[in-house]
Amino acid sequence: MSSNRQKIIDCLKNNMTVEETLQIVKDTSIGYIYKTRSEYMKASKFKPVYKNKKKEKILLLYKNKVSAKNIATEVDCSIQYVYRIIKNENDKANPRMLLMDKICSEQDEYYTPLYAIIPISQYINPNSIIWCPFDTEQSLYVRYFRSLGHTVISTHIHTGQDFFKTSPPQNCDYIISNPPYSQKERVFERLFELDIPFAMLVNTTGLFSAKSRFEILKDKIEMMVFQSRVQYFTNYNNITNLKNPPFSSGYICYNMLDKKLDFEELDRKLIDFSDIPV
Ligand SMILES: C[S@@+](CC[C@H](N)C(=O)[O-])C[C@H]1O[C@@H](n2cnc3c(N)ncnc32)[C@H](O)[C@@H]1O
Repeated sequence: MSSNRQKIIDCLKNNMTVEETLQIVKDTSIGYIYKTRSEYMKASKFKPVYKNKKKEKILLLYKNKVSAKNIATEVDCSIQYVYRIIKNENDKANPRMLLMDKICSEQDEYYTPLYAIIPISQYINPNSIIWCPFDTEQSLYVRYFRSLGHTVISTHIHTGQDFFKTSPPQNCDYIISNPPYSQKERVFERLFELDIPFAMLVNTTGLFSAKSRFEILKDKIEMMVFQSRVQYFTNYNNITNLKNPPFSSGYICYNMLDKKLDFEELDRKLIDFSDIPV
């Protein structure tokens, strides 16, 4: 038996893939590796069990209480795949993780109170044209910016204007909103493509935990962080019924702030227009 043949069989017995074998056994061809493996498997009835690196990473993150949504981003797989792996491993899913996911998916319909909009308004030049692309006419972004004298164009999926297919208004100076959490990655991709100054209020917890996102964001953005959490409402008929999310929010900005990092205090009493002192 040639030494290469023996090495290939040893790799196979150690559950290595053909690619991994190729790294170890030099001076051989991929064809010879396949042939040797298949001969050996036929003769011995041995079947390798490959280690699934994705699966290992998912379980590690899960044990560290990372939410399924964040695991899917980190590992680059679907959220359904994450659930399948976790369910197979352990029928009892981590309750904290399930709570985070429930809140994150529901968060697409969380609306922003006035006190979280006021701090960004100081960075808008007078008489600007602002696009609020995730907002109906009810949005407090739209109403507040108009009250300051800006021209505001609101578009929203419910009125048939999908952000990913809608062109910015002519001479748009800024794009400002609170985007749907579930589409954060795609939203930033499109915003950078448009190359218009923007401010997006997002959940900042774990924002930089994915290396790919860190690389995209680190040089380009400015950030506005708050001393306290933003609470959101879910019904315009009951704006004062605010929900406390288990994460911190902040603005990710592009060509908007005059510094890389801006710390702002929130005046959480100012929820709606009626709360603004005259
Ligand atoms: C987190 S909410 C914020 C709403 C509003 N900007 C605010 O802060 O009060 C995000 C909104 O974006 C809407 N949305 C989701 N996908 C969208 C899309 N592709 N284009 C436009 N709007 C979208 C959701 O229906 C939801 O109302």
